Amino acid sequence: MGGGIAHVLAAASVDVVLVDVTSDLVAQGLKRIEATCASAVKKGKLTPEARESLMARIKGSTSHEDAAAADLVIEAIIEDRTIKADLFRSLNRLCAPECVFATNTSTLSVTDLASLSGRPDRFLGLHFFNPVHAMKLVEVIPGLDTAPSVLSRAKDSMALIGKVPVAAQDCPGFLVNRILLQYITEALLCAEEGVSPEEIDSQAKDAGFPMGPLALVDMVGIDVSCHTQPILHEAYGVRFPFPQIVKKLFDAGRFGAKAGKGIYAEGKVDDEYRRIVGKVSTEPFSIDRCIARAVNEAVYCLQEGVASAEEIDRAMVLGTAFPHEGPLHWADARGLDEVQLILEGLAKSEGPRFWPHHLLKTYVAGGRVGKKTKKGFFEYP
Ligand code: 3HC
Repeated sequence: MGGGIAHVLAAASVDVVLVDVTSDLVAQGLKRIEATCASAVKKGKLTPEARESLMARIKGSTSHEDAAAADLVIEAIIEDRTIKADLFRSLNRLCAPECVFATNTSTLSVTDLASLSGRPDRFLGLHFFNPVHAMKLVEVIPGLDTAPSVLSRAKDSMALIGKVPVAAQDCPGFLVNRILLQYITEALLCAEEGVSPEEIDSQAKDAGFPMGPLALVDMVGIDVSCHTQPILHEAYGVRFPFPQIVKKLFDAGRFGAKAGKGIYAEGKVDDEYRRIVGKVSTEPFSIDRCIARAVNEAVYCLQEGVASAEEIDRAMVLGTAFPHEGPLHWADARGLDEVQLILEGLAKSEGPRFWPHHLLKTYVAGGRVGKKTKKGFFEYP
């Protein structure tokens, strides 16, 4: 993801140093940026001259010292608290005191990482979405000690590079991953039960998602899922079970698109995946099962004050292209009474991860069931 972030910064005329641990990894990152640029040139979205100057703004390096002169460091390394903390400690010794540190963590606590960085007031979360150059959203997450000026400058900077900054609270998964990973986790649990990935992904596309949840897992990386899912399980317990299929695919080196094989390989599900899963489900499957979990988590976020209903849906659309204007609009259109029934039915058959949030039940009990009553999470004329 670091490569994608370097790309969007360079495209906005920012000089970037792309640092990775080996020269091979640096070369791979630069190659991916070149490939994205080449496709943009082919589509007529970028001139060959603009591509040259974009690439010239990115310097590859394996040395932290090359980041010493930076105004802003964005860390996008493995989702491991100790490794991230070591990196920030090393950078803190090298970088100027006014340099701002940002983490692109998906799930770890920004306040915690900030406290380990040596500069908690000049530290925040800047969370991008894959593919970085295509998704408009950046979640901006202050830690408890982030200086207000650092936060507002970070938001302005994200807007300057063409992204839409949305403030999110420092809770595991922040806003978007909390909701998206409910939907994805359920798709993975269904795959683990033997539902075919093609069926899951094609139903998701029929429901309006631009790509299926399992193709998305491959795009983001099975390794990323393997690191983030246990953190969410630890934070949210029964609401976020860890699908064992992720670990099995990870152990088999099926890291997704970056490894050329994940759930899919060369565009189709192959025999090795089917052998790893080891079963074929004959039960009927509906993508509602995955979407209902995303909706329920969106209600948790709303009730906890993580964001407003408008912000939740806006972030889900800009970060994940969630259909029907976002999960809360989806629920209003479907009818909150029906969503409650879906969740209660699934809670009976699958377990407590589907228990409907009490706010949803309160709305339904009060006759506020969405578009058909002109009032749900939103109001309608
Ligand atoms: N990898 C990298 N880039 C890709 C890609 C891939 N697998 N697939 C498409 N793209 C790029 C294309 O190069 C294109 O770039 P361009 O606009 O510069 O030409 C752009 O995405 C749009 O591609 P297409 O024109 O082919 O358009 P599609 O309609 O097929 O859209 C998509 C592709 C943007 C990937 C769309 O399917 C989508 O929005 N998918 C959902 C993505 C999503 O949910 N992202 C969030 C993941 S979670 C995350 O990142 C959080 C982290 O913490 C893990």
